[in-house]
Amino acid sequence: MKIVVINGQNHKGSTWKIGNILADKLSGDQEIREYFLPRDLNHFCCGCYSCLEARERCPYWSEKAPFFEDMLAADLLIFTSPTYCMMPSAPMKAFLDLFFTNWMMHRPVKDMFSKRAVVISTAAGAGAGKTTKLIADNLMNWGIPEVTRYGIAVNAMNWEMVPEKIKTRIERDTDRIAAKIQRKKQVHVGIKTKGLFLFYRGMQLADWGASKAEKQYWEEQGWLSKARPWKKD
Ligand SMILES: Cc1cc2nc3c(=O)[nH]c(=O)nc-3n(C[C@H](O)[C@H](O)[C@H](O)COP(=O)(O)O)c2cc1C
Repeated sequence: MKIVVINGQNHKGSTWKIGNILADKLSGDQEIREYFLPRDLNHFCCGCYSCLEARERCPYWSEKAPFFEDMLAADLLIFTSPTYCMMPSAPMKAFLDLFFTNWMMHRPVKDMFSKRAVVISTAAGAGAGKTTKLIADNLMNWGIPEVTRYGIAVNAMNWEMVPEKIKTRIERDTDRIAAKIQRKKQVHVGIKTKGLFLFYRGMQLADWGASKAEKQYWEEQGWLSKARPWKKD
């Protein structure tokens, strides 16, 4: 199993630690590629919309390409972000902005429809659930059919401060998430993903997409005819 971990922070605190525990539990002959933000992608979207013409036209594509290629090759994506002001960290938000072209309403990527993702956040007290939801909503809109959210209040500013009782709970919860991922071999594409895709397909057919190039992309994939991204070619 190939795993890509995208950390919305440079430091190795509680949130990173939980992602790391989970990745270890999925061990076997898995390959893990790990990124830290902003260390590995230190940009904000500049709103030029060049990516709507072609993904590669983003001014930051050379730095984004390794993420994109690794994500395409991965079976499982793990996103981690501490909760900051009841939201994902700013670097994680910047990352999602930089990949907004992945949204189904623009240029969905076929390979995303066969992936799993886990989104992890910690908060001192409140907001981890909201943080995981905001990130998971993006991934659902990328077409990833199975997104597991894990948000937990750790009552701490770093991993060393996390009470033993909470660490025990994290062990138990990550065991459960790892077992669930290992148990299911086939990714199930549910009605929500299919429904969203068909809705955006309707928009492209009605010429309500963002550009001519975008519609052409849909046409080239065969999605305006019979092909569907979750079906084998
Ligand atoms: C800028 C900033 C904003 C924060 N906002 C919240 C918050 O909204 N809710 C909360 O419960 N904790 C908040 N915290 C605390 C962190 O979410 C918490 O300590 C988290 O476990 C840190 O994860 P880390 O160890 O991976 O850095 C905030 C911390 C910082 C530095």
